[in-house]
Amino acid sequence: NAAVTLATLRRMKTEQSPIVAITAYDYSFARLVDAAGVDVVLVGDSLGMVMQGHGSTVPVTLSDMAYHTRCVARGLERAYLMVDLPFLSDTDDHTALRSAARLMKEGGADMVKIEAHAAQAPVVEALSHAGVPVCAHFGLRPQRVGQLGGYRVQGRDEAGARQVLEDARALEAAGADILLVECLSAAVAAQVREQTTLPLIGIGAGVDCDGQILVLQDMLGVTPGQPPRFSHDFLADTGSAQSAVEAYVEAVRTRDFPRREHTFE
Ligand code: KIV
Ligand code: NA
Repeated sequence: NAAVTLATLRRMKTEQSPIVAITAYDYSFARLVDAAGVDVVLVGDSLGMVMQGHGSTVPVTLSDMAYHTRCVARGLERAYLMVDLPFLSDTDDHTALRSAARLMKEGGADMVKIEAHAAQAPVVEALSHAGVPVCAHFGLRPQRVGQLGGYRVQGRDEAGARQVLEDARALEAAGADILLVECLSAAVAAQVREQTTLPLIGIGAGVDCDGQILVLQDMLGVTPGQPPRFSHDFLADTGSAQSAVEAYVEAVRTRDFPRREHTFE
C-alpha cells in the first residue's frame, strides 16, 4: 500500500475512482483512519470547534494547527496529509508562505488548504510558485462566518452560482492542485467538475464530485448538538470507530454516500 501522493489523487480522478477524505486531529485517530484506507486526512481548522469548543473556526491559531498537524503526521503511513491555513494566516503572499512553511516543515503537512475566492488567486499563485501543493476551498467558507452572518448553502441563485464557477476557474488558473467545495448546491458542484480539470472533493456538495470529506466527529455522531444534514452517523450503523470509518470508506468508494438526503438541490 504505497503512500498517497498528488499523482495518486490525479490518477484516481482520471480513473473515476472516488477519493475518500476525512478530518483527524490526533495521533490515535490518525492511525485509525489511515488503517481504514482513507486517502486524504485533513487537519481542519474545524478543530476550533470539535477539539477546542469554540463556536467557529475564527479563533484557531497557526500554532494550534502546527501542533495538531505534528500529532496527526506521526500516525499516518499511507494517507496524504492536508492542513488548513487558519483565519488571517494567509492575508498576503508573504504571510501565507510563512504559514505554509510552518505547517509543512514543523508539522509535516503534504499540502495546505486555503479558503479562497477569485480575488485571492494571487496568494494561491504565490504558494504554487514557491512549490507548495495547494487545495483551494470555496463555496461555503466558514472562516467568513463573521461577514456571512451564519452558515448557508452556497450557489443557490444565479449570481451565487456564477461566482462559484468564477472562483473555480480563477483558483485553477492560479495553480491550485485540488479543489474543495463545501455546502454547495449539487448542480453547481457538478458544473464546477465539468468546467475544471482538478480533483474535486465535496462536503455537502452532492455525489458529482471526485471525492468526499467529512468531519470525523460528525460521522461518529459525537459532535454536540444537531448533526449537519450532509453528514451521516456511521458509528450508529456499525458499533466501533474502526468499522465506522471503514463503512464510510466503502460507501464513498461505491458512491453509496452521499445520498439524496445529504444533498442540497
Ligand atoms: O476544517 C474542516 O474540517 C474543513 C472541512 C469541513 C472540509 O475545512
Ligand atoms: Na476548514
